[in-house]
Amino acid sequence: MPQFNDAELTAAVVTSFDETPNERAKFLLQELVKSLHDFVRRTDLTFDEWGYAIDFLTRVGQKCTDTRQEFILLSDVLGVSMLVDAVNHRERGGATETTVLGPFYVGEHKETAHGTDISSELEGERMFVQSRVTDLKGKPLAGVAVDVWHADGDGYYDSQKPSYETHGPSSRARFVTDADGRFFFRTILPCSYPIPTDGPVGEMIIQTRRHPMRPAHVHFLVNAPGYEPLITHVFIDGDKYLDSDVVFGVKDELVADVEPRRDATMPDGKPADGPWHLMTYDFRMKPGQGNAPKPMMAKAHEDA
Ligand code: BEZ
Ligand code: FE
Repeated sequence: MPQFNDAELTAAVVTSFDETPNERAKFLLQELVKSLHDFVRRTDLTFDEWGYAIDFLTRVGQKCTDTRQEFILLSDVLGVSMLVDAVNHRERGGATETTVLGPFYVGEHKETAHGTDISSELEGERMFVQSRVTDLKGKPLAGVAVDVWHADGDGYYDSQKPSYETHGPSSRARFVTDADGRFFFRTILPCSYPIPTDGPVGEMIIQTRRHPMRPAHVHFLVNAPGYEPLITHVFIDGDKYLDSDVVFGVKDELVADVEPRRDATMPDGKPADGPWHLMTYDFRMKPGQGNAPKPMMAKAHEDA
């Protein structure tokens, strides 16, 4: 039986993966072992602390359901999601900046006619969103699918509400750009909201005296053949949480000035029923390949 001191133990575990047929998997596993072992050594981790960590991760897994992904939330609040985003998008070359997907991309994005009010059943200040999708030179991209989703006036996504099963999507839709690369829709002005705090991740945020808030935003996933899928948000200027987003997702370029308007008609010529807000934001796509992310839950089901 081999006996190891702790440095030899690390080397032995790393070597145990030497025959992994997939080179990338071997590299990732060996680097993970080295980083984990370093963490244990640097912190002199106690049995109680390791037991707590295992219990915490167990509870994170148990909190996941068809419409809730607590592991994504954990990755988000630890800044891992934004770090993965950063190392994969180092050179934007003028393309729109990216940010976290978040745990509420659950699919069900039905193609919807331009101009539709995607939050018609919700209370809230009305907003008109207009946008254009282009390449890096400003050439419009037609026929591009754009998924949009955002929280309601109380800070909840449709998928978080019991009514989701019976009523289906709300504040969530897919638009396809016209010949000029444009799409537009009506909705409500989103507000800042807390990430879910009724699970182990929220417990960690509260116990560590962090705040759970995200600044107001609308999510966009732009998927154009021949271009890298663009996962991003447009944040609303003036929000008090822009400087302290709990998931570190804000980038200056993604903050839009959303103008209050009183015009009697909206940009598509249809009447406005009172005061409204105008969000204008264009997306520039980077040439490349890549698959748009699948909704996490659908992926889990497929892989099962
Ligand atoms: C979201 O914006 O939907 C979100 C992103 C990360 C964590 C929680 C929520
Ligand atoms: Fe969000």
